[in-house]
Amino acid sequence: MRHLTSIHDLTDADLARFLERAGEMERDLLGMRDLLDGRIVCTAFFEPSTRTRLSFETAAQRLGAGVIGFADPATTSSSKGETLEDTIRMLNAYADLIVMRHPKEGAAKRAAAISTVPVVNAGDGPGEHPTQTLLDLYTMQKEREALAGLRVALVGDLKFGRTVHSLVPALRRVRATPVAVAAPGLDLPKELAAGVARSTLEEAAATCDVLYVTRVQKERFADAAEYEAVKGAFVVDAALLQRTKSRAIVMHPLPRVDEISADLDGLPAAKYFDQARNGVPVRMAVLATLLGA
Ligand code: NCD
Repeated sequence: MRHLTSIHDLTDADLARFLERAGEMERDLLGMRDLLDGRIVCTAFFEPSTRTRLSFETAAQRLGAGVIGFADPATTSSSKGETLEDTIRMLNAYADLIVMRHPKEGAAKRAAAISTVPVVNAGDGPGEHPTQTLLDLYTMQKEREALAGLRVALVGDLKFGRTVHSLVPALRRVRATPVAVAAPGLDLPKELAAGVARSTLEEAAATCDVLYVTRVQKERFADAAEYEAVKGAFVVDAALLQRTKSRAIVMHPLPRVDEISADLDGLPAAKYFDQARNGVPVRMAVLATLLGA
């Protein structure tokens, strides 16, 4: 495995190994400083990010690597018309690994096709976000022990939500069951929907082990009115969990807008901030593995 552009780049064994290695990293978070000593990781972010970029940069530094990069393409020569390919060629001259987020689906694969160093897809438009999936699985495993047999409700924007697009195939791989609770008109893409049961939010809360809530991806809508019409489709709050006697944990890749009520934050079911925190050891495992350390 040289690049990580899609969850399909990983074999079952790779998946298991990443989860195991993330555990090792978490147990000794401050003891890994020699692993990537002298290496340089580049974070090339053509789209906004808080958690993904900063957790990758934290992970790199915890492993002893140096970090270069940009968080806003307006400050780079792409704003002068430089192609993605030329930008990647230049980053190849500076860094040993590139973590890239880009608004265009397929951009990570384009980068990987010419890059001489590993490329990690940190989100390509509505395409995929494979390292988010690794931290999602890591969190589920930590909270629920075995992944096999878990029923995981995917709530919200299943059409544009790239985290869901990587998560659904991964859940199948680990023999968990995805359940779709899509906002109106925001169903799973056809190639992912086959064999996925649909549910209402109430039923999912009552019967699933995990409620994986997502934000309606405003930036992917061509028509603002369409976004306005669906943005409030689902709200997960304390009352829902109580009414349905839910035993589910609540996860969210974040940022949330209004789909998870703040009244949930103090409850034991709320795992979204722990989930984000797990991004560091998981991304340490990804960086170390792809760099052969
Ligand atoms: C997600 C993303 O960028 O796809 N955020 C993240 O990486 N944790 C989810 C989102 O933006 O809604």
